[in-house]
Amino acid sequence: MVKIGNVNLGDFPLLLAPMEDVSDPPFRFVCKQNGADMMYTEFISSEGLIRDAAKSRMKLDIFEYERPIGIQLFGGEIDHMREAAIIAEQAQPDLIDINYGCPVKAVACKGAGAALLQDIPKMVSMTEEIVKAVKLPVTVKTRLGWDDKTKNIVDVAERLQDIGISALTIHGRTRKQMYKGPAEWDLIGAVKNNPRIKIPIFGNGDVDSPEKALEMKNRFGVDGVMIGRASIGYPWIFNEIKHFLATGEKLAAPTIEQRVENCRIHLRKSIEWKGPKLGIFEMRRHYANYFKGLDHFKDYRMRMVTLPTEEDVLAVLAEVLERYLVANFFQKQSAFEISCLEPALGVKLLNKTPFFYKPIFVKWLLPKFPGRKIRKFEAKNDTRLRSC
Ligand SMILES: Cc1cc2nc3c(=O)[nH]c(=O)nc-3n(C[C@H](O)[C@H](O)[C@H](O)COP(=O)(O)O)c2cc1C
Repeated sequence: MVKIGNVNLGDFPLLLAPMEDVSDPPFRFVCKQNGADMMYTEFISSEGLIRDAAKSRMKLDIFEYERPIGIQLFGGEIDHMREAAIIAEQAQPDLIDINYGCPVKAVACKGAGAALLQDIPKMVSMTEEIVKAVKLPVTVKTRLGWDDKTKNIVDVAERLQDIGISALTIHGRTRKQMYKGPAEWDLIGAVKNNPRIKIPIFGNGDVDSPEKALEMKNRFGVDGVMIGRASIGYPWIFNEIKHFLATGEKLAAPTIEQRVENCRIHLRKSIEWKGPKLGIFEMRRHYANYFKGLDHFKDYRMRMVTLPTEEDVLAVLAEVLERYLVANFFQKQSAFEISCLEPALGVKLLNKTPFFYKPIFVKWLLPKFPGRKIRKFEAKNDTRLRSC
């Protein structure tokens, strides 16, 4: 059983990674619905929190159903980070997480995020000050080191544990690597298997399938995995991994109905939290991800990312459902087989079609029988396909 302070995370928890502009409350809602065991806010600037900047403040919004949840902070000044941690604690998360991994110039060049990997004594002091300042558990998310020559995570992990952090998440890349190349898990395993280490160690980097999660669990013995990019547009990954770990079997991929429904929920939550204008605007970055892999989706996407109201987007989503539902239904039927469908087979298929989709099915089937007409369709009692 993995525990962070008093927070019980069960066996091998799956963590949703903090991701700027992605892991906001609407996205976290759909990830929680789909099995994320523990989640984090996007990183929040300590300077912004102290200035009481609206954007930073808004990121402190957390909801009861999200628990357990951590608020992640970044910054380069020890005093400001301490102050920000006290502010964040008032939002009553389950823990405070410190970001020592962000590689982007705007952060690292200001001495924050991964920059602390170049100054381990300062990282340790900053962490210690925060641990002392708050009652909540403090955790850290960081990388292997600054570059290839300074992969000092084994030593860093010991030092951070010694000053009282409650868990450590390691992204298996250096700052220099940014997001390039495959994540290296050997050093994550070395930290986890260091007999001095007692706190939970979570591995992060490139976990994008149930098989990969199982491999990382077995090969490196980590206490759980954190998932970032693979969850974007695919929150089902959490339940898929859980199911695979429990049974050894893979769940079927989400259906088009599930994709559309999830997208609708995400859009609704986005509007509820951000208001109609920003909610619709910021949702635009998600559509392509939700419908990745669908042929000829571009036209729908183009409309979804330009239409201004929720009703407009919902109407396009309804079209998407109709178009791809029918396509999916017959994806295994060759064009030849379909054109040769006998009415009797048509009736059989129609009877198997869920009630709600029968009209769509018939509308689609009609042109496949150029010599025949479907005379009547009474959805409720009579599902027979009649030819004349
Ligand atoms: C769009 C995006 C935003 C990110 N923002 C943050 C962040 O705010 N805090 C953080 O610690 N890491 C952030 N990361 C890094 C991720 O948390 C994670 O460490 C990284 O994506 C590797 O995991 P993955 O291979 O599962 O995506 C971000 C990554 C992405 C792609």
